[in-house]
Amino acid sequence: MFELWTEKYRPKKLDEIIGQDETIKRLKAFVSKGYIPNLLFAGMQGTGKTSTALTLVNELFGNTENFVELNASDERGIDTIRIKIKDFARTKPIGNASFKIILLDEADALTKDAQQALRRTMENYSETCRFILDCNYSSKLIEPIQSRCVIFRFKPLNKEDIKKYLKKIEKEENLKIGEDAIKAIFVECGGDLRRATNILQACASINKEISEDIVLKVIGKARSKDVEELLKLAINGNFLDSRKKLYNLMIEQGVSPDDLLKQIYSQIFELEISDNEKLRIIKLLADYEFRIVEGSNPLIQVEAFLASLKE
Ligand SMILES: Nc1ncnc2c1ncn2[C@@H]1O[C@H](COP(=O)(O)OP(=O)(O)O)[C@@H](O)[C@H]1O
Ligand SMILES: [Mg+2]
Repeated sequence: MFELWTEKYRPKKLDEIIGQDETIKRLKAFVSKGYIPNLLFAGMQGTGKTSTALTLVNELFGNTENFVELNASDERGIDTIRIKIKDFARTKPIGNASFKIILLDEADALTKDAQQALRRTMENYSETCRFILDCNYSSKLIEPIQSRCVIFRFKPLNKEDIKKYLKKIEKEENLKIGEDAIKAIFVECGGDLRRATNILQACASINKEISEDIVLKVIGKARSKDVEELLKLAINGNFLDSRKKLYNLMIEQGVSPDDLLKQIYSQIFELEISDNEKLRIIKLLADYEFRIVEGSNPLIQVEAFLASLKE
């Protein structure tokens, strides 16, 4: 059966949430009292906000009977959400729970008017319901909502944490993940563990032995060694060879010209070229990137960029 690893490996207990120690410690204190206030979980996606809400509910109640998850960006609008909240909130909690919990995902996607409506709903059901609002930026929420919640900030996961998590999946799924592959996944996912897990699953469907090359193929990026070589050839005036290299990257590694420019930009400070060279390249990159955004043919622009690199 096909199963998404982001669901299969979702933490079951608060203790399994990684990289958010302070937050977890404070939430456990609530659990031990059997009580939570309204909570606001802020942070980029894939840092464990939904997982934390689910495990929190489980540890409070031992099940998720008194829990519902709604998405604020539900295109049917705030009225639908309010009706759903009302339906859920007006019946008593099941068992001996003293309140119900509503997780509202993407709360910062709501318009200001919708947020006012949400605020009133929160007030109306404050006796029987707790809200956990999930958002990218707490500053996008109106002040009266913020002040009704205890705010927790979720940090992007660091390389060690991501590695630990991927290593667990490696063992469970009988994979072999190279050190370079982990590094490439980390660079690409930028602390978003959902993205890291999805990349790993895509790689594993190609091969159980996961090399850096497979990762780069899945995410459509070039090896950093190749990028460096491409630039050096062009800087030294070897335009035809650098052009050949460019075509190789596109055909063999499936890299697109505009992604390549972005990649050069993101790794420019790691390349072994002089600082002056780096500055010069960034200025050129800005020109060519702008032209691509304005609608010029990306391949022609990338070739022109390479041609202009010669000292
Ligand atoms: N801090 C974390 N600890 C453990 N797993 C995490 C963490 N952050 C993300 N994940 C994993 O990534 C996936 C997405 O997590 P989720 O909690 O839905 O993130 P968010 O709600 O912040 O977007 C899940 O599979 C989960 O197992
Ligand atoms: Mg979420």
